[in-house]
Amino acid sequence: MKTVTDIKNLLVSESAVPVFERQLILSHVLVQPRSWLIAHDTDVISEVYAHDYHAKLTRREAGEPIAYIVGYKDFWKHRFAVNPATLIPRPETELLVELALSARAATPCHVLDLGTGSGAIAVSLADERRQWSVLANDISASALKIARGNSRSLANLQFFNGCWTDAVAFDSVDMIVSNPPYIAPDDNHLLGLTHEPRGALVSAEAGMSDIESIITGSRKVLVSGGTLVLEHGYCQQDAVCRTLEVAGYEYIELFNDLGGIPRAVRAKRP
Ligand SMILES: C[S@@+](CC[C@H](N)C(=O)[O-])C[C@H]1O[C@@H](n2cnc3c(N)ncnc32)[C@H](O)[C@@H]1O
Repeated sequence: MKTVTDIKNLLVSESAVPVFERQLILSHVLVQPRSWLIAHDTDVISEVYAHDYHAKLTRREAGEPIAYIVGYKDFWKHRFAVNPATLIPRPETELLVELALSARAATPCHVLDLGTGSGAIAVSLADERRQWSVLANDISASALKIARGNSRSLANLQFFNGCWTDAVAFDSVDMIVSNPPYIAPDDNHLLGLTHEPRGALVSAEAGMSDIESIITGSRKVLVSGGTLVLEHGYCQQDAVCRTLEVAGYEYIELFNDLGGIPRAVRAKRP
């Protein structure tokens, strides 16, 4: 096979993509860790690999998220496969995992993750708490295929295709966790989110429509004393709180993410 260049020269070539991301792309192409690239920076690589690297770099330069290019995103303690059918899990969503873990003892408990996407929340919870039984749904069959592939064969985790709490029996769930779509259809942030599925991001009524459906539906399927943990948008905490109060939830707690932005609520069904 014809050789073209060494790793060092390939990585310093002209590009607006940060070096860290270039390394991620090349380590993905060569199926080697980043540390290997540094230790082998004078190794020459074949034309096939160089071509693959440049093709992926071009996609990144065009604005495609790095996670879709390399096909994964790290979340909590694991690496999750992602593709354009799934939202790319965000670091701030790890707050939901913390809130769920701290809400209940490590004793048997039925947990539901609504809108699981890549399965990031459900897999993290099922892995952390083997005593819990975790059920996760999504309306997107394509996202569920990815989530199932990410499930690490956990015996306490199951997925189903469905709309929020529609197919869930009343008074049957101890805790519901959800990161639903919550961006308003006219929000300018959407201009920078053109690669992810719109159905994972956008919700009607100023971004509140799905949150309201989940709050109302969860009130029926949670057991008395059951917990709801919800992520929401940066300006929605007051509205989410009011909706919870009107629906009759108690012990409403409000949380900021690591950036200090209001990001999640936790509440109990009386
Ligand atoms: C913001 S994404 C969250 C994905 C994942 N839980 C995470 O945190 O990375 C919202 C998810 O809800 C799903 N979804 C949208 N509408 C739904 C509905 N009516 N019922 C169930 N899932 C829905 C989307 O397909 C998407 O996977």
